[in-house]
Amino acid sequence: RGTGQFFVGGNWKCNGTKQQVAQLLEQLNKGKVDSSIEVVIAPTFIHLPHVLDTADSRFEVGAQNCWSSGTGAYTGEISAEQLADLGVKWVILGHSERRSLLKESNEFVGEKTAYALSHGLRVIACIGETLEQRESGQMYNILDAQLEALANQISDFDNVVIAYEPVWAIGTGKVATPDQAEEVHLHIREWFTERIGEKDAEALRIVYGGSVNEKNAAELAAKEDVDGFLVGGASLKADAFVTICNAHT
Ligand code: G3P
Repeated sequence: RGTGQFFVGGNWKCNGTKQQVAQLLEQLNKGKVDSSIEVVIAPTFIHLPHVLDTADSRFEVGAQNCWSSGTGAYTGEISAEQLADLGVKWVILGHSERRSLLKESNEFVGEKTAYALSHGLRVIACIGETLEQRESGQMYNILDAQLEALANQISDFDNVVIAYEPVWAIGTGKVATPDQAEEVHLHIREWFTERIGEKDAEALRIVYGGSVNEKNAAELAAKEDVDGFLVGGASLKADAFVTICNAHT
């Protein structure tokens, strides 16, 4: 079972105008999030400075990606050093949208994770299987390979949150059942128990992502190995997001 602090991330993806971001922040800042929950919001790169300046200290701030090495001739990229310099504490890496649309490999995600951690960022590392992989019995092979690529480059997972996001549940309204989520989270916990020992594996936050909303969050949060959420669509609605954050209390 998970013993870490309940964790909720809001992945805003490529959403929001300046005005919409300002409005969302204003509403979030009024929300009452229980003090026992760790909450991270992750806007686009260009909105980071505004969010860092404006978000209540209740909310930590994350980016949605970063480059695999330092500053330099990497047109269009943002380095971990630059994020840290700005005051960003977290970065989401290996999101399935980047894995599929931008062809990010397991190894590349592992490389970026190691680099970001070594520059003081904390990482929300995403893994997940497609429906086809699940239905053809490949699910655990796929997930284990994604985890393996992380563990090949990192031995200390203290500053990592693992987000299990089944691709078939992302943005589809088809949420995993609490039992489906628990089954995979337990598998991930056991995988880490072998790698980093029972105590650290219990402390590792394993969060679920994929069509989480204000209605299904409490039931998922009640599962022993579901240590929080990574929320997409519903994180753009302040009321829904605050309800999801408090789902564990
Ligand atoms: O990273 C969060 C995500 O991929 C889930 O998105 O819209 O299904 O909550 P959504």
